[in-house]
Amino acid sequence: MRSSDLDLVVKNEVDAYEHPWTKRIFIDCLRSGYQCWVLANKQQIIAHGVMSVASGECHLLTLCVSPEFQRQGFARKLFQILLDRAFKLEASVCFLEVRSSNAGAIALYRSMGFAQVGERRNYYPNQRTGREDALILSRQLPLR
Ligand SMILES: CC(C)(COP(=O)(O)OP(=O)(O)OC[C@H]1O[C@@H](n2cnc3c(N)ncnc32)[C@H](O)[C@@H]1OP(=O)(O)O)[C@@H](O)C(=O)NCCC(=O)NCCS
Repeated sequence: MRSSDLDLVVKNEVDAYEHPWTKRIFIDCLRSGYQCWVLANKQQIIAHGVMSVASGECHLLTLCVSPEFQRQGFARKLFQILLDRAFKLEASVCFLEVRSSNAGAIALYRSMGFAQVGERRNYYPNQRTGREDALILSRQLPLR
């Protein structure tokens, strides 16, 4: 991911998420040296993901696929790339947080071997119910 990608990255965020990240947050992620990656074809950015890697741990911070490209395996592919990079950077465990209502993402993570290790009650704002819980999922690396 480069600064020049960010307008298209944020467009995908707005299209895919109820609570999208802003351009400012992605700029900060790039400046912080996080693993910031996009999957793209010649015309457009299909998916993006951001992961922090430090002290033997990695944390998935966002993973997003443009709605028109969902259910074609792109999230799994990009997450695998991020996990492979984290493993090369000596991470031995990955953590992520996901909304308890996000059944699609939870199914993706479970299919990749993640299991729930905790929850944060009322962690996320939710337009329908006010607040909702975050599930904390984890798994050891390497993945394969
Ligand atoms: C969640 C998200 C990243 C999945 O992206 P995707 O490219 O559609 O996922 P994939 O095609 O790689 O799916 C791999 C597997 O995950 C599961 N899965 C993914 N989306 C699913 C859905 N909506 N419902 C049920 N299972 C789903 C399935 O097991 C799927 O395998 P299958 O298609 O062979 O059944 C995408 O829906 C998205 O960007 N959503 C909005 C942002 C978001 O919620 N990000 C996660 C935040 S933690």
